[in-house]
Amino acid sequence: MLRSLLVAGLAALAAAQDYSSDHNTTAITGTWSSGTQRVFPGPGFANPAQETFAYPNTTGVGYAFSDDGWYEIARFRYVANGSHPECIIGTILWAHGNYNLLDNGSLILTPIGDGYQQVQTPCNKDNTNFIQNYNDTELYSMWRIFTDVTFGPKLHLWQEDGTPVAPLFRLSDQPNMLPQQKLRNNQTTVVTSTSDGLVTVQTIVSRQPEKREKKALQKRHAGTESWKFWKW
Ligand SMILES: *[C@@H]1O[C@H](CO)[C@@H](O)[C@H](O)[C@H]1NC(C)=O
Ligand SMILES: *[C@@H]1O[C@H](CO)[C@@H](O)[C@H](O)[C@H]1NC(C)=O
Ligand SMILES: *[C@@H]1O[C@H](CO)[C@@H](O)[C@H](O)[C@H]1NC(C)=O
Ligand SMILES: *[C@@H]1O[C@H](CO)[C@@H](O)[C@H](O)[C@H]1NC(C)=O
Ligand SMILES: *[C@@H]1O[C@H](CO)[C@@H](O)[C@H](O)[C@H]1NC(C)=O
Ligand SMILES: *[C@@H]1O[C@H](CO)[C@@H](O)[C@H](O)[C@H]1NC(C)=O
Repeated sequence: MLRSLLVAGLAALAAAQDYSSDHNTTAITGTWSSGTQRVFPGPGFANPAQETFAYPNTTGVGYAFSDDGWYEIARFRYVANGSHPECIIGTILWAHGNYNLLDNGSLILTPIGDGYQQVQTPCNKDNTNFIQNYNDTELYSMWRIFTDVTFGPKLHLWQEDGTPVAPLFRLSDQPNMLPQQKLRNNQTTVVTSTSDGLVTVQTIVSRQPEKREKKALQKRHAGTESWKFWKW
């Protein structure tokens, strides 16, 4: 009796969640984190409107996937420099957008344009610490979910070039993520009517600090060459 209920329950679960027999331990939906599991998406990691990060205690990578096709990633890593150990490069990154499980077994993450990263390059005298946009589409050639006897569901991702991502352990079957909308780097169109009857249309990209000088230039440019229409 108990067994048949259990089997029926599993069958219902399998039918409700769309995943192939190759990745059949559980659905990809949820929150996953590598290593010591301190790096994972959501409000405790990034504050996009402020372009800040809460630095985790250890490096690592985390992913969250919702069952309606949304993903969020959190990454914190150091890249060593063999010949100059003092020139280690630190990168902390946040992005979100839409994911697709392709028929050929690949996974594609398409960002919506509000991702950002902070890069620390102690040996670059001109710029030792800066924030820049991160809007790369990420293709993972393959993904698998196994069950680890100790840690439970374990997600494996392989990058486009075949390099495996560190195994990801499931922190929760719920996705830990920020609101599913553009949270920074918004582009707005401002239409102003001036007293002389002209209408000015300006495109302003908010919070794009990676090139402050360029932003100032663009603003000046927009100011001098913005479209002007007669208002009828
Ligand atoms: C998962 O897939 C493997 C290989 O296709 C199969 O042997 C195994 O029975 C499946 N397990 C479940 C729980 O469906
Ligand atoms: C980092 O470690 C400190 C001290 O062990 C602890 O108080 C803090 O909660 C940890 N923070 C995170 C994000 O794990
Ligand atoms: C970010 O990338 C996506 C997918 O390629 C693209 O549609 C979008 O326009 C990009 N946004 C920005 C601000 O570059
Ligand atoms: C290592 O650091 C040196 C000194 O800054 C730099 O010239 C070199 O390009 C770096 N190598 C790598 C692989 O980043
Ligand atoms: C799966 O299809 C996508 C889109 O066409 C492609 O970019 C990717 O390389 C393919 N994956 C494999 C493993 O061939
Ligand atoms: C960007 O736009 C969304 C709604 O489209 C809004 O909720 C959010 O606060 C905006 N963010 C910024 C930094 O202006």
